[in-house]
Amino acid sequence: MATVAACEDGRVPPELTDLTWPRRTPRLSVRPARAEDAVELWSWYRLPEVTQWLSEHFPDEARFVDFYAGRFAHYLVAELDGRLVANAKLEITDCWTQAEAPVGARQAEIGWALDPAVQGRGLGTELARELLAISFDGLGLHRVTAICFAENTASMRIMEKIGMRLEARFVADSLHRSEGWLDSLSYGLLASEWRAGRTA
Ligand SMILES: CC(C)(COP(=O)(O)OP(=O)(O)OC[C@H]1O[C@@H](n2cnc3c(N)ncnc32)[C@H](O)[C@@H]1OP(=O)(O)O)[C@@H](O)C(=O)NCCC(=O)NCCS
Repeated sequence: MATVAACEDGRVPPELTDLTWPRRTPRLSVRPARAEDAVELWSWYRLPEVTQWLSEHFPDEARFVDFYAGRFAHYLVAELDGRLVANAKLEITDCWTQAEAPVGARQAEIGWALDPAVQGRGLGTELARELLAISFDGLGLHRVTAICFAENTASMRIMEKIGMRLEARFVADSLHRSEGWLDSLSYGLLASEWRAGRTA
């Protein structure tokens, strides 16, 4: 019979709400998103350059607010100087296991979107590193993944800069709303690799 696994570090698996918030990076203050954050995020989330490579594009604020209300539990937001400048995804799922193996090992998919007014200053990379710290040190996850369109150089560079490994390039598997079928990139990192990198 399958038994429930603890975290890789032996703890009972915590949830996002069990961690201490906000978490501080050198410049950002990061916390779980709330449904009402959508209104402030919309000031820049409405810009086409923000949603160019994202799964969803919203024709108006009401649609974004509605979408966000159903998704915010999987998001974190980051403040810079008291303003919400980033929305980050941290969606936890169970790892695939065989029926007889211990269950309970978890992984997360991470992602990011920044206000264009603050892009190009290393904040995306700073936020992404914190997502790894939250995932591995905070939540004790086994693995973290991230995906992007192969054309999204900025996102690809973030994944590389934070030490994630390119695990797959899928050929013309992703249908872009205006560009047609495009390649996508899939990156991953294990907790053991994260720990090795931290102590190296
Ligand atoms: C992806 C994103 C979060 C990057 O944020 P950022 O704060 O500008 O990123 P950083 O300043 O940390 O830069 C990260 C790397 O991307 C590069 N980069 C940033 N903007 C770029 C652009 N428009 N084109 C090409 N490279 C870019 C930087 O030069 C840097 O790489 P380098 O160290 O090799 O020079 C931001 O562009 C964004 O929010 N885009 C819209 C949403 C999105 O596409 N999210 C990802 C979906 S998978």
